[in-house]
Amino acid sequence: MCGIVGYIGDRTAWPIIIKGLQRLEYRGYDSAGIAVIDEGKLRLNKCRGRVSDLQNQVKGQSISGSLGIGHTRWATHGEPNDINAHPHVSMNGKIVVVHNGIIENYRTIRKSLQDAGYTFKGETDTEVLADFIEYIYMTQHVSAEQAIKVALNKVIGAYGLGIICTDEPDKLFGARKGSPLAVGVGQGEYFMASDATPIVEYTDKLVYLEDEQVVVLTRQGMEISDLKDVHVDPVITKIEFSADSIDKGGYEHFMLKEIHEQPNSLADTMRGRIVEQTQSINLGGISEVMPKLVSANRIIIVACGTSYHAGLVGEYLFEQFARINVEVEYASEFRYRDPIISEEDVVLVISQSGETADTLAALRMAKEKGATVIGICNVVGSSIARETHAGIYTHAGPEIGVASTKAFTSQVVALTMMALAIGRKRGKIEDARYSELISGLLQLPELVERVLKGDEHIKEVSRAYQLAQNAIYLGRGYLFPVALEGALKLKEISYIHAEGYPAAEMKHGPIALIDNCMPVFVLATRDKYYDKVVNNIQEVKARKGQVVAIVTEGDTEIARLADYVIEIPECDEALLPMLAVVPLQLISYHIAVMRRCDVDQPRNLAKSVTVE
Ligand code: G6P
Repeated sequence: MCGIVGYIGDRTAWPIIIKGLQRLEYRGYDSAGIAVIDEGKLRLNKCRGRVSDLQNQVKGQSISGSLGIGHTRWATHGEPNDINAHPHVSMNGKIVVVHNGIIENYRTIRKSLQDAGYTFKGETDTEVLADFIEYIYMTQHVSAEQAIKVALNKVIGAYGLGIICTDEPDKLFGARKGSPLAVGVGQGEYFMASDATPIVEYTDKLVYLEDEQVVVLTRQGMEISDLKDVHVDPVITKIEFSADSIDKGGYEHFMLKEIHEQPNSLADTMRGRIVEQTQSINLGGISEVMPKLVSANRIIIVACGTSYHAGLVGEYLFEQFARINVEVEYASEFRYRDPIISEEDVVLVISQSGETADTLAALRMAKEKGATVIGICNVVGSSIARETHAGIYTHAGPEIGVASTKAFTSQVVALTMMALAIGRKRGKIEDARYSELISGLLQLPELVERVLKGDEHIKEVSRAYQLAQNAIYLGRGYLFPVALEGALKLKEISYIHAEGYPAAEMKHGPIALIDNCMPVFVLATRDKYYDKVVNNIQEVKARKGQVVAIVTEGDTEIARLADYVIEIPECDEALLPMLAVVPLQLISYHIAVMRRCDVDQPRNLAKSVTVE
């Protein structure tokens, strides 16, 4: 979702900000803009469309100036157009703002500003905020920093902000509440961004602002304080990934690169945590809360999107191996339902970005109600990672493609390790079974590699369905959440309507949709549901549906029934989700490419959903 970039230093700001915005494109956006202070004057460019459109707007012009802010906007208030694009400049031109988040009471503020003579160019809450800060600055005769704090004390809502005051052209201001903002610390220069990706090539020193903090950056230093004007000592953390890891590395799309990275990302999630010789699982990040997990009455898993599907796999894992009652909830539903949570409950939040607004709000609510809250996050230092009592980083590396792939398999591996570690401590899993699963986990990277080797065949299968308008995905047991995930992947990037269903539920509705145009992707590996799923395939074929079956290597029975089969290596049924999802990721990828869709930045979607 919206992205912020800011720069102050000795270099020319424009190219640094442009590059930073390109780094943030993956978050999803529909317009972009930059404001720089060029020879003491404000220079503003913004437009609907891509960062490349913004570059075209200034082609041939030289833009100097070593202080500026930029933004990629994902529309919430007001349609995506040139006027509503950020930065927004206040009526008298003194305050320039880029903003992520939503100012909920902007209508009330707008009305009072109108009464004071303000007029507005667009419909956004951000323009109102710029005017509000300016109004305070001009009428109360305070510094820009003070005006920002007075305004933010009156604002209800969420914000990550980059602000310039044209009267104070050597300062760059930032503020945060609910929407992330990080400051990169260089030598005599500072970078500001919504996440570390625009910063990593300049410095590995990062300061994450906390909620209700304001930062003032000058070429001489950084000053952080809270909204009550109390000074805060900055905590500098180290960026843990390299600039190389956020490039496409020779692949046509980030999504394809990330799918192919899974053998490594899975190994990275397990690295140092599974010790083969001693058959032990060491999860340092949750060791302190392990007694709580072992004695928990219930684990409530809370997440959104793909992370929610990983949570559903977690339900099967925790129930089977740790014998703990599990509920899996969409964060957006959970947070508003006044759920019954006690101190005996553990709430496990799963989030790739660690910034999803609903998941973060659910975490805070569960904490307030006394639950122990544990996180599984990919982005180190993210809000969710920082606010949970304990957690596991997936260490899958930066995920740039909007459609989540390697983050999913790493989340499931993290959940598997957790379930086995807890099950072992609770005495609910036999030694032999435990050892079998440890070996199975360690073999996974190699097995995923084998699935990836079949990509040419998967591409051919995809070709047959590139014109489909609908699709059904069926799976049972551990593979039911994978069916949901397969359908989500197809919807997200190829815009084909797709539904995931437990295979046995097909008879309760989806079967009515089946005709000779309907592809049905069936997860039909040799597990305890095999015969039942074969029956489902026959039911689809009897109605002339097209069946693509994901089967265990060497299966000849289904090969006779289905239109296409895609083989995956034999593996323990509890570990199958991490293998079986890979062909589904590839199918959606290939179909989307064949349909000429924007794979890495699908329309209307955002990588990191920082507003509810
Ligand atoms: C967005 C992304 C999805 C992601 C979901 C949850 O919808 O496009 O890929 O699964 O948010 O994000 P999280 O970062 O919390 O896992």
